[in-house]
Amino acid sequence: MLERVPIFASLNDRQLRRVSQDAVERKYSDGAAIVQQGEKGIGFFLILDGRVEVRRKDRVLATLGPGHFFGEMALFSDAPRSADVVATAPTTCLVLSRWEFWGFASSQPKMLRGMLEELARRLGASNQALSE
Ligand code: CMP
Repeated sequence: MLERVPIFASLNDRQLRRVSQDAVERKYSDGAAIVQQGEKGIGFFLILDGRVEVRRKDRVLATLGPGHFFGEMALFSDAPRSADVVATAPTTCLVLSRWEFWGFASSQPKMLRGMLEELARRLGASNQALSE
């Protein structure tokens, strides 16, 4: 499954095994609040199965599914969580702690580049929505 995740495309088998050993698999029921705006961010989430909505107040900023990630902003910026993330179906995520994420990501420039591309895409979509 991890081999098909776009941000992990540059990782070899050994590196993928390391991710799956370091990470914890967490299951959430439909409606569960996975991340809450304003709280301290201690984890990076990769969706293995299911679907989530990213929300601020009652506005839906994005819908994410298998292969997508969230929770990276608080790890990059050390700021509180910028939005709520709520499961809208039974959802399974792979969760890496801040410590594990940076221990791994620091030596993976291609993976970080993939994440930056996705961040830029999300920022562009938010800018577009603001100007509509
Ligand atoms: P973080 O701020 O740690 O916690 C909330 C997460 O929601 C955030 O990281 C991103 O992963 C995600 N997120 C916030 N804003 C957007 C957006 N406009 N589009 C997609 N995802 C977002």
